[in-house]
Amino acid sequence: MAINGIKGFNDILPGEVGKWRHVEDTARRVFGIYGFSEIRVPVLEKTELFARSIGDATDIVEKEMYSFTDKGGNGVTLRPEGTAGVIRSFIEHKLHVADSVAKLYYMGPMFRYERPQKGRYRQFHQIGVEVAGVTDPKIDAQVLTMLCQFFAELGLTEPRLQINSLGCHECRPAYREKLKDFLQARLEDLCDDCRRRYLTNPLRALDCKAAGCREATAAAPSVLDHLCPGCEDHFSRTRAYLEAAGTEYEINPRMVRGLDYYTRTTFELVTGMLGSQSAVAAGGRYDRLIEELGGPPLPGIGFAMGVERVVLLLGDADFGVRPDLFIAFHGEAAGNEAFRLMCRLQRLGASVEMDYEGKSLKSQMRRADKLGARHTLILGEEEMAKGVAAIKVMDSGAQQEVELDADRIMTVLASGTAAGEAGEEKR
Ligand code: HAM
Repeated sequence: MAINGIKGFNDILPGEVGKWRHVEDTARRVFGIYGFSEIRVPVLEKTELFARSIGDATDIVEKEMYSFTDKGGNGVTLRPEGTAGVIRSFIEHKLHVADSVAKLYYMGPMFRYERPQKGRYRQFHQIGVEVAGVTDPKIDAQVLTMLCQFFAELGLTEPRLQINSLGCHECRPAYREKLKDFLQARLEDLCDDCRRRYLTNPLRALDCKAAGCREATAAAPSVLDHLCPGCEDHFSRTRAYLEAAGTEYEINPRMVRGLDYYTRTTFELVTGMLGSQSAVAAGGRYDRLIEELGGPPLPGIGFAMGVERVVLLLGDADFGVRPDLFIAFHGEAAGNEAFRLMCRLQRLGASVEMDYEGKSLKSQMRRADKLGARHTLILGEEEMAKGVAAIKVMDSGAQQEVELDADRIMTVLASGTAAGEAGEEKR
């Protein structure tokens, strides 16, 4: 019996990979414009790193981590998110010594034991960024503007930016108590999860989707009315810088993040196009995390997007690679010549395909079509005898004669619509 993959762990098949690469390449390009460098950290870390950073009382740490004891008896976890590992690495390698501002990005798989559904998987991929060392809200606006530019460059206008401030260790405790007082009289109306979290994480009730919780918290005190002067100033300057940058946003005072390390600015890019999984990207400031993990007292801010969700938003757009040329042939001698030409052209850098098995000319042309070849060339006895063949531009139907010589063919491929360049996108 065949062995299938694990539920919630997806294969990304060749037909989809073009879209993934387009997303990754766009991120690298846009993040590069803003001065970010790539960092690659392991997928496996000590379990306590996530417990300490994300928070013991969060859904992720309580119930979603892939944790196990390795053969040496160490408690380890497959990373459920990227921030903790990147900050661990930042501290371990003292990156702040070389440069007082670190602007880092990363991409790769994350693991959470969640109930799989559209847009929610157990292995999923994030592209994320982290900035360490800047307190001024200019960086909040830069990070958000960069995120919006990334989506705009993908041609996606749908996800909307929502921002909030969760205050800091000085003002949030008082707000939390106020909210608890408010919720106490309404505990009966909250869902089981929110009732359970009432003591440890009461803010979660504010963004719970359960109808009872929505109703019960409709008149709840707003965190934005309880910010200390420092947080209030940070939030208003963040908004002013966003406006200066021309970045559109909405304020959502009910936005609460599912990870404990956030302070001040938090944000999500939300869409109505993915059913109940509305957040395509999310993040915020974490001004105490670096110190709490044993590093210097430096502030931080970052976000991560779910690549599967971005790819879903891109829909049917085709980013597959089109071969520059498909050589079709009839007859054995022509097949050998086609093979020889293909090899030379490939060595010169053209992406060339042919049928390896000697199928009928009709089926060869069907394959050229299916692959989206930019040009086709048909080789038979007559072409072999004359030493020339017709090369056809598939998009326009235009034809021209060319000598059966790799350099001559290269020139034709490189002119007109022929890119002569592997990696061009199908659109
Ligand atoms: P997060 O909100 O847990 O934040 O995840 C960020 C994004 O990852 C989500 O908005 C969503 O697009 C995607 N995502 C999360 N879980 C899944 C899943 N099970 N399946 C598919 N996609 C998912 C963080 O992870 C923070 N580390 C973000 C951050 C970086 N904050 C500061 N720096």
